[in-house]
Amino acid sequence: MPGVCQLSLDELLREAAAALADGVAAVLLFGIPARKDEKASGAFAKNGIVQQAVRALKRELPELLVITDVCLCEYMSHGHCGLVRRGRPSAEILNDPTLALLARTATSHAEAGADIVAPSDMMDGRVRAIREALDRDGFQNIPILSYAAKFSSAFYGPFREAAESAPRFGDRRSYQMDPANTNEALREVALDIAEGADMVMVKPALACLDIIHRVKTEFALPTAAYAVSGEYSMIKAAARLGWIDEHAVMLETHLAMRRAGADILITYFARELARAIRTSSG
Ligand code: PBG
Ligand code: ZN
Repeated sequence: MPGVCQLSLDELLREAAAALADGVAAVLLFGIPARKDEKASGAFAKNGIVQQAVRALKRELPELLVITDVCLCEYMSHGHCGLVRRGRPSAEILNDPTLALLARTATSHAEAGADIVAPSDMMDGRVRAIREALDRDGFQNIPILSYAAKFSSAFYGPFREAAESAPRFGDRRSYQMDPANTNEALREVALDIAEGADMVMVKPALACLDIIHRVKTEFALPTAAYAVSGEYSMIKAAARLGWIDEHAVMLETHLAMRRAGADILITYFARELARAIRTSSG
């Protein structure tokens, strides 16, 4: 996407320092390993790319909050968020065996110094598995920001291309949520909270403003909205064609997310938005 790149560790430190200077309080890290396999080894490797990135960031910019995305898809050769058993007529995602790998990934991030872990896989029971593993390993104080209402969405396309994580077969509809089913979204959020989520996220953002509002009013937890890659790309593309005013649309859409009830915005426009907020509030 325009202005969004895969970063090496030294590039990450420069980008993060610039973001912090713009007034961005936190970053959310995603990793792309040198090699992908069928058990996502790179996700929980002691010297995995995210683990190295967290250590470098906490060493160089200790005041920047570091959140890590906890998922397996970027580390899997097949691109799914969980372990897969290949079969006919179709492959199957193995929910429960995946939980141990996710928990291992989360504790490895905490060990590296992550301030918050954010599971995005949508396996059932993963918040509890991660909470138990963190507590057991001495990370009782590390909060979980759960991707609680994560819909199966065409808006994730540019991210998958950037992270080289598009599923090689099938799709993610067996674990991501049906955008037509509001009740299921609210049940999933309630489950994550019961399992120990400290903050909850709704994703994508613009297509789910109603869900953001209901999650905030019904659960009253810190609520995050993730303005995803396709949302960013649409604004960039229309602006490039001269059809919309990019800055004004950026402000208006993010304002709508806040108005819907989001306390936390996760957005590819973070630096520009932080600068705009800083300028307007003097
Ligand atoms: C991985 C993950 C995805 C996104 C965040 N974490 C992709 C997916 O679920 O396919 C999407 C982010 C974006 O589109 O900006 N589970
Ligand atoms: Zn994933």
